[in-house]
Amino acid sequence: MSKKLWGGRFEGATAASVEAFTASIHYDSRLYKYDIAGSRAHATMLASHGLLSREELADIISGLTAIEAEIDAGTFEFRQDLEDIHMNIEKALMDRIGAAGARLHSARSRNDQIALDLRLYLRDECDRLMELLDATRRAFVVLARKYMGQVMPGYTHLQRAQPVLISHHLLAYYEMFGRDRERLVDCRKRINIMPLGAAALAGTGLPIDRQQVADILGFAAITANSMDTTGDRDFAIEFVSCCTLIQIHLSRLSEELVLWSTQEFSFVDIADRFCTGSSIMPQKKNPDIPELIRGKTGRVVGSLMALCTLLKGLPLTYNRDLQEDKEPVFDVVDTVSASLAIMAELLANLVFNTGRMEEATRTGFMTATDLADYLVLKNVPFREAHGIVGRIVAFCLDRGCELVDLTVKDLGQFSSVIEKDVFEVLSVNGSVNSRISAGGTAIQRVEEALSLAEHNMGIKS
Ligand code: ARG
Repeated sequence: MSKKLWGGRFEGATAASVEAFTASIHYDSRLYKYDIAGSRAHATMLASHGLLSREELADIISGLTAIEAEIDAGTFEFRQDLEDIHMNIEKALMDRIGAAGARLHSARSRNDQIALDLRLYLRDECDRLMELLDATRRAFVVLARKYMGQVMPGYTHLQRAQPVLISHHLLAYYEMFGRDRERLVDCRKRINIMPLGAAALAGTGLPIDRQQVADILGFAAITANSMDTTGDRDFAIEFVSCCTLIQIHLSRLSEELVLWSTQEFSFVDIADRFCTGSSIMPQKKNPDIPELIRGKTGRVVGSLMALCTLLKGLPLTYNRDLQEDKEPVFDVVDTVSASLAIMAELLANLVFNTGRMEEATRTGFMTATDLADYLVLKNVPFREAHGIVGRIVAFCLDRGCELVDLTVKDLGQFSSVIEKDVFEVLSVNGSVNSRISAGGTAIQRVEEALSLAEHNMGIKS
């Protein structure tokens, strides 16, 4: 077994069990591109301040490029006895280019190096997730255009409440995923700050230029406190909490899709290629995709809890506990990315059963609030109007009919102000189109919201 890069003060070899327990290479190898980009920038800065010669810099750069190509090609041999991605690459560099490789780690520690790798990685993942969110948001806008003008029941407590436009319901998700995007934009600002130069925890006495490294790597600023820099992971928790909200929104949507695809609702048809069957019940077509997205929300929330718990008791600055941050972060990235991608695809293939949805608005007294508002406009106090309509609903229940089935004479028994014009407000379309308040479901308001969404997503209507 080779001597460790940190082995100077050690006499005995590390126990195999300890190597296995402490290694992170089996998952942090995923950061290799960022680790190499960081080393390139660091070496360039060291060379411009006389800490590396031009020749040494050239050797380091070409060595790192060759290593990167090997890792890309899958021919690089990752070694557990070298613990992590940083030392696997550094050792390979020393083996490849000799003396110059041994100078790369000047003014740097793995403590600021891992902070750098993670920030570079998460910065890219923020950008990727924003693209995936946009694809999902675009799918909602396309659906909202396709079904513009069609009605469905709006629910509270999962009880039929008031009729709404299908597009209004769809654009609610457009808004939710829009906020998720804004959160990522904001979170990215705090990720995009350059940690290198904090060294182990206290900074370095070597003449470095942190701003130069930040410029090379495209960071907006450098971190202000070396101790905070090496101990901080709140940027990772913030990122994971942004992802958790995305997944929670996906989960709510999934729940609706599962419900809507039941025979009881029959509001949507999820394309065959997004469903699976049962091995025993030949008639089954199951909505596995939304079910799994909903199920995977548990592990995302779990990862958020894992990270919060990981950080809560740590004294400043770096503690090895922090190595445990990466698996939850990676799992969240993979889970949320895959869920968003498949949901966008599913939405693009979703078909609404508009006849059935419209039919569902015609039962359940969904225009009862409209009738109360009608009475209010005829000067009846709202509380009184509420009571009157309640009694009318009870009357209908008794008769087994809906509000629209009543005559003016029937209605007149409950309030003398009710006239023939009442039927306009009792119709589903009349109800929907009366909701003209800003953000309401009237066709006029939804058309405005949809046009704006199309504009924002670069869709021509
Ligand atoms: N693998 C470590 C981690 O992920 C890198 C930093 C290790 N630093 C140390 N002093 N052992 O956190």
